[in-house]
Amino acid sequence: MEFTYTLVVLSACLLSYAHAAAFNCSEPPNLGAFDIHSCCRMPEINLGDAPAKCSAYIKELTTQMANMNGVGGSKQTENNKNMNNQNNPDAAAVEYPAYAHVCYAECMYRETGSMVENEFNMDNVEKFLNKSVSKGDKDIVPQIVRSFEACLNNIKGHLEAVGIKTHAKLPMGCSPFASLMFSCVNAETFLNCPAKMWKNDHNCNVAKSFAAQCNPLPHVPLPTANWLKP
Ligand SMILES: *[C@@H]1O[C@H](CO)[C@@H](O)[C@H](O)[C@H]1NC(C)=O
Ligand SMILES: *[C@@H]1O[C@H](CO)[C@@H](O)[C@H](O)[C@H]1NC(C)=O
Repeated sequence: MEFTYTLVVLSACLLSYAHAAAFNCSEPPNLGAFDIHSCCRMPEINLGDAPAKCSAYIKELTTQMANMNGVGGSKQTENNKNMNNQNNPDAAAVEYPAYAHVCYAECMYRETGSMVENEFNMDNVEKFLNKSVSKGDKDIVPQIVRSFEACLNNIKGHLEAVGIKTHAKLPMGCSPFASLMFSCVNAETFLNCPAKMWKNDHNCNVAKSFAAQCNPLPHVPLPTANWLKP
């Protein structure tokens, strides 16, 4: 009897600790100077020549952009004109992540076969991870695959809800889809980090509880509907 009672009280305490008093999402916990990236150790991945190729591609884009701006916009593409369209104030560039980040993420997924013709290919994602994640870190692969699936379903669901099939592209030809997925997959994997790769300390656990409560899927702000129009 007493034993049962103790168990009940103990699990009630554990539960309330695990759900540690709801956060006020406008007030992130102050964890001082602490590196959240150290909480879920990232696996070693052999990315082959993809980073070098994609850096070169970004350099090339940067040169193209500089040339575009240098000739008073006369070489602006259709997309670029739309971007500056006065009737489309939501399309302010400030709402948007910098193109280098967006285009780099897309390039990396393309070069690793994860993205084919602007769609994620889950079979290729899994094959790439199976092949490229180092032996000692293979435990995290099924979670990364689950994160991809969760993020893909969620982001696609949001698009369908607003009646949009494809993402608009930036003037330089990349769409934000890849970098949204990249951020979402990282955040989802952080929340579901395998115990083996998780640093079980106070700051990391608080950061995770806060993220779980206050930053649900897709974990990233999606561009506004205007931006998503093809
Ligand atoms: C949450 O924090 C914000 C910003 O400090 C404050 O304005 C708001 O009243 C708080 N909400 C609750 C429910 O305490
Ligand atoms: C990846 O590896 C897992 C575990 O070995 C295996 O079950 C799965 O079929 C592999 N996936 C692909 C796409 O090769």
